[in-house]
Amino acid sequence: MKRKIFILLIFFFTIIIGLYVYKNRREVAIEEVFPGKIWAKPIPTLPDVKGVGAPTAKNCGNCHSEIYEEWKLSTHANALSDIQFQSELAKPSSPKWICLNCHIPIQNQRETIITSLRGGDYFQPIEIQNPNFNPEMKEEAITCATCHVRVDEKTNQSYVIGAHGGTSPPHPMKINRDFLNNRCQDCHNETYTLNQSLVCSFQTGTELQNTNSQNTCATCHLPEVRRSFVKLSLNRPVRTSHRHGFIGGGVPKKFDLYKDQIRLGYKPGIILSEFKLEKGTISIRLQNKNAGHHVTTGDPERFYLLILEGFDSFGKIIFQNETKIGQDWEWSPQAKKVNDNRIPSGGEFSWIQKPKNESNSIVKYRFQAIHVRLKNITSDFMIQSANQVPDPYQQKVKQIKTLYPHSSIIIESTFVIKDKSRKDTTLEALFNTNAKRRGE
Ligand code: HEC
Ligand code: HEC
Ligand code: HEC
Ligand code: HEC
Ligand code: HEC
Repeated sequence: MKRKIFILLIFFFTIIIGLYVYKNRREVAIEEVFPGKIWAKPIPTLPDVKGVGAPTAKNCGNCHSEIYEEWKLSTHANALSDIQFQSELAKPSSPKWICLNCHIPIQNQRETIITSLRGGDYFQPIEIQNPNFNPEMKEEAITCATCHVRVDEKTNQSYVIGAHGGTSPPHPMKINRDFLNNRCQDCHNETYTLNQSLVCSFQTGTELQNTNSQNTCATCHLPEVRRSFVKLSLNRPVRTSHRHGFIGGGVPKKFDLYKDQIRLGYKPGIILSEFKLEKGTISIRLQNKNAGHHVTTGDPERFYLLILEGFDSFGKIIFQNETKIGQDWEWSPQAKKVNDNRIPSGGEFSWIQKPKNESNSIVKYRFQAIHVRLKNITSDFMIQSANQVPDPYQQKVKQIKTLYPHSSIIIESTFVIKDKSRKDTTLEALFNTNAKRRGE
């Protein structure tokens, strides 16, 4: 009897261990864990493009020289070298391969191919070496081919996707403007909570759709310009082309990129539609006139900081108040949005104040709106944990305060009480200042 129980017990344990091993060691397909998620896999390997060579931005730039120069200045081109990205990528809680699927999205850009997930766990990707890895293309991050090149599955040939038509390029071509315009949604319209460190909360596409306008992302972020699509020596006609600087919130990834923001199409989303003092009350009204979506958009940590200061006749600040437009999140124990006062497209924000005590000696008020991308306390924390970041980025993270723009002043206006006059600082002057500012 005892022996029977013993054998039964052994049998039982073997099955349990077997099941355990099966469940945790089994190779599970990525599609099974993330069904229907475009970002769960990179774009399949792109063979060389006939007439171009490897599908790198540098090669496209041999002919599309001006578009290439603009793109090089964009946040897209800097999405891998981004110091903040490198710091966040290095966190032990980051499922790195998933981050890279949006930030360097083509298989050619990746050292390894992920074949499946061990036990379905996204922290245990099973990787093999990628024979088609192109290190130069990796550095290009969101490169031309992300939007413009795909492989024909039947012929295994790469082709370029265009929008215009009626052109005669030296490379295979298919015209599909909708594909190009909808492509933005794949990365900019995703809400998904994986864990504390990966919360995608981008609803920019849905926000735009809700405005019921005919605008696409390209209307504003790829502004039209008349020019040849290619360098002049190729003798092609002047057509309606698009600037490829993908300018967004006006806080670029490096200080030397400030000088091109306005030329490539930067406009603040908000305008200061009212700034006045009447019967001791200051009213400030901001309107989201220029953005087809909420501002601030995208990353939940971005916000506008609004500052009002009162000066006495000696130029000393004797009154100060500030407020914030943006989202508030709690990150632990579970990521959760607790507040959101962003301005929807076309919407308004008003800020009314009645300064008391010192108000008699105030001769002038100054209002500033600052677009903050990174808070000082967050970059402090990044410096503290810089040791976990691999080189060459570790040194850069340590110097994040001097290398990485945290914020930009996007509106500044002064109101002089005596003659009730308002004077706005020009955008050009603000961006000259921004290039020299540091920190939040
Ligand atoms: C050897 C020169 C050359 C290279 C390299 C090249 N192109 Fe072109 N491309 C052209 C020419 C020429 C045209 C047609 C211009 C015209 O007729 O106005 C063109 C047209 C295009 C168009 C627009 C077609 C349309 O009708 O909308 C796109 C998009 C394009 N190329 C993308 C790319 C991309 C992406 C790469 C890199 C993978 C690339 N090109 C590499 C020469 C080149
Ligand atoms: C493969 C994913 C992907 C696609 C497709 C994509 N983007 Fe992006 N985009 C990103 C990432 C990632 C960033 C941020 C990079 C960073 O901050 O390091 C970004 C940044 C931006 C920014 C800059 C924000 C700022 O303030 O600097 C704009 C504007 C933008 N994208 C517009 C577009 C438009 C328009 C399209 C479609 C034509 C598009 N994107 C397609 C991933 C993508
Ligand atoms: C994030 C997506 C994205 C990236 C990256 C991108 N483009 Fe484009 N490109 C577009 C869109 C969208 C259009 C078309 C806009 C329209 O006509 O509606 C376009 C249009 C073009 C055209 C047609 C002419 C024109 O200006 O409209 C050419 C040529 C072109 N791109 C080349 C490039 C090259 C070269 C690169 C890299 C240096 C590049 N693109 C990077 C989205 C992208
Ligand atoms: C009507 C014009 C317009 C349209 C359409 C539009 N945008 Fe914007 N977008 C703006 C302006 C203006 C800003 C700058 C907002 C600011 O920071 O003041 C901006 C900012 C951004 C930013 C930077 C994030 C930030 O907080 O500043 C991203 C990313 C972006 N847009 C993506 C998109 C995408 C993706 C689409 C399409 C789904 C789109 N935009 C459609 C005008 C537009
Ligand atoms: C679904 C695609 C997607 C995935 C997955 C993704 N990102 Fe991004 N990321 C974006 C887009 C789009 C932006 C630009 C948002 C904007 O500016 O509105 C961005 C911006 C960023 C920024 C810049 C924020 C800023 O304010 O400038 C950092 C840092 C970043 N991502 C880190 C990560 C990390 C780390 C991971 C993995 C844990 C990750 N991302 C995964 C699409 C993605």
